Amino acid sequence: MKRKVLLDCDPGHDDAIALLLAAYHKDIELLGVSVVSGNQTLEKTGLNTLNLCQYLNIDVPVSLGSSRPIIKEEEVCEVIHGESGLDGVDFPELNMQYDSRKAVDLIIDILMESKEKVSVVTTGPMTNLALAIRLEPKIMNHIEEVVLMGGSYTNGNVSPAAEFNIFTDPEAAHIVFNSSLKVTMIGLDVTRKVLVLPEIVDRMEKINNHASKLFVDLMKVFNENQRKVFGFPGGPLHDPVTIAYLINPDILTIEHMHCSIDISHGPSYGRTNCDVFDYNHLEKNTYVATDIKVDMFWDLIEKTMKEGQ
Ligand code: RIB
Ligand code: CA
Repeated sequence: MKRKVLLDCDPGHDDAIALLLAAYHKDIELLGVSVVSGNQTLEKTGLNTLNLCQYLNIDVPVSLGSSRPIIKEEEVCEVIHGESGLDGVDFPELNMQYDSRKAVDLIIDILMESKEKVSVVTTGPMTNLALAIRLEPKIMNHIEEVVLMGGSYTNGNVSPAAEFNIFTDPEAAHIVFNSSLKVTMIGLDVTRKVLVLPEIVDRMEKINNHASKLFVDLMKVFNENQRKVFGFPGGPLHDPVTIAYLINPDILTIEHMHCSIDISHGPSYGRTNCDVFDYNHLEKNTYVATDIKVDMFWDLIEKTMKEGQ
């Protein structure tokens, strides 16, 4: 049985590969895509999403969501994703249009209308999902689990304590992590192990098709920016790990623990406080990824791009 998936994202170079994986893999049925501001403004992440769907022949509804976090001011991540939010690719003229609904309405409609439970994947700030939960709590009965790229139980990437997606909208993450939904957190702890090293770019370039050309063009810019900012030998391909986990959960090592979002306004604002050693003996509300089978991940990316549309 295909796993039904709703993707909320902020493309973003790594979001783009998560979208490709979700749309192309035979075991995933992508029901729709909602867009949030994050890596760039909503206007830009939205256009990037439409351009990606058109380029990759992905025929699903795409809706615009929140243009800023629930409480904080808007943040973007130009140093990594560039002025467009998806630097490195020149798309042809855009004809695809947005769905007429706002993201929260698309999310609610898709979840309430689905006969099977839906896995909701967020690869950007969790604003849209948090708002949908507040507007229509009934959707929680239709959600299999929330799988997010975000957080870290080690160090952050926008502050010593916090990871970008959570830091950008800590209050939204707080709503989702305390919703009683099954939450699987895929944080920097594992995503920093899947670096797009030069040999990975070369390996994917050899596929020599539409999807692999997009991968290579995007990763050349992504890698250069990650090298400049973090000194990494290749960019960590954060977002697709969420979809890879849904395709094959064995790709990750997962531990169940309590996790709270720091929504105070101190130096750890936006941190995912994961109680790895259960110091506080609080209810375990989060499944946290602690390791990843790196070779299995790249094999999955390569195989999906080879056999996709
Ligand atoms: O911290 C990494 C996350 O922030 C990824 O989802 C990336 O796309 C950015 O949104
Ligand atoms: Ca993202």
